[in-house]
Amino acid sequence: MRDELQKKFDEYKALGLSLNMQRGQPADENFDLSNPMLTIAGEEDMVVSGVSLRNYPGGVYGIQEARELFGDILKVKPEEVLCGNNSSLKMLSNLLMWALLKGMKDSPAPWVGDKPKMIVTVPGYDRHFLILETLGFELVTVPMGPDGPDMDKVESLVATDSRIKGILFVPTYSNPTGDSISLSTAERLASMECAAPDFTIFADDAYGVHHVVDNPSDVPSLIRVCEEKGNRDRTFVFGSTSKITFAGAGIAAMASSPDNLAWFAKLLGTQFIGPNKIELYRHVKFIRQFPGGLQGLMRKHAELLKPKFDAVEEVLERELGGTDLARWTVPHGGYFVSLDTTKPVADKVIELAREAGVALTPAGATFPGKNDPNNSNIRLAPSRPPLAEVVKAMEIVALCIKLASE
Ligand SMILES: Cc1ncc(COP(=O)(O)O)c(C=O)c1O
Repeated sequence: MRDELQKKFDEYKALGLSLNMQRGQPADENFDLSNPMLTIAGEEDMVVSGVSLRNYPGGVYGIQEARELFGDILKVKPEEVLCGNNSSLKMLSNLLMWALLKGMKDSPAPWVGDKPKMIVTVPGYDRHFLILETLGFELVTVPMGPDGPDMDKVESLVATDSRIKGILFVPTYSNPTGDSISLSTAERLASMECAAPDFTIFADDAYGVHHVVDNPSDVPSLIRVCEEKGNRDRTFVFGSTSKITFAGAGIAAMASSPDNLAWFAKLLGTQFIGPNKIELYRHVKFIRQFPGGLQGLMRKHAELLKPKFDAVEEVLERELGGTDLARWTVPHGGYFVSLDTTKPVADKVIELAREAGVALTPAGATFPGKNDPNNSNIRLAPSRPPLAEVVKAMEIVALCIKLASE
């Protein structure tokens, strides 16, 4: 068996392939959908609802039309939205920096003096870990499951440890598992007793409208559920158009209670005069006129992404189904598939795949400190390569899993 696998592996290696399943980026065909946006705003658009897009005045919240657009994306009211420039990660890290320096709106003290801790879900998003670790947070991991963060763990941690200031995770189609929170998880997060009076939920909803199935289940709005539970100020939600229009050249927003936003807007107003209103309006005008609006655009993205997700599942099922060598998620949206090898061989699989010409997300990247305790998790990112490359890359990954597990 081993000889056969090795022979096949050597054949792949001899092809000198260069395939990439590492990058959570849209494909060029996804970007092409938004090309009309490049020229959609002209001289005639430079005053919107009485606000000059070319001049400073307008404030840090962004134009009303963009707040309405993000109200749809983040499933909140426009008055619960503050728009930003091109990156939701930048807005998140800015908020965290202010929290360290001054605390949140009603904090008894700045977080920095308290050796703050933050709960993160695993497997998770490496950039979340990087921001938090670089800012000096101690990370506390809880598993991400089909209903969201493991709430038994979260509740018992936050009940007694006042140094735990919050939780950062992806509520919809999580990176990398594709899992979303259930209503019960949202309700428990919104109502749990916390030792820290200023405990905050940081929900990075990067994939909130990125369904790949036709009839996606509803994911509850943390903002609404927190309001219902009487903890309106507990949550901040983040999102952007990085995977709706152009990655890194879109617009971003945060959503929270109007009181939280008013507090944050004051701090933000010391840093700049306001976001790029021309870019905000370009997005509004483009998405409004797209056939079917936001939903229409997301359906077009799904048409391009679905065959790639299907291919990942088809190859894994064909090559590894019933072998007990690995299990994997079958997400209904988002950008990733999360695979766990049964044996502790993820690093070996990733190295073998590299030798055979397939780049995968580095081993351990889905855990803080790059330390996957079971050495089993592999993040698969099928969005960027063409379909044929996804199929070939997955066949090689499956072969490497068989070889590494021998
Ligand atoms: C969970 C998550 N959040 C945020 C981002 C990046 O968002 P932005 O471009 O708005 O900073 C990504 C990109 O892959 C992501 O997966």
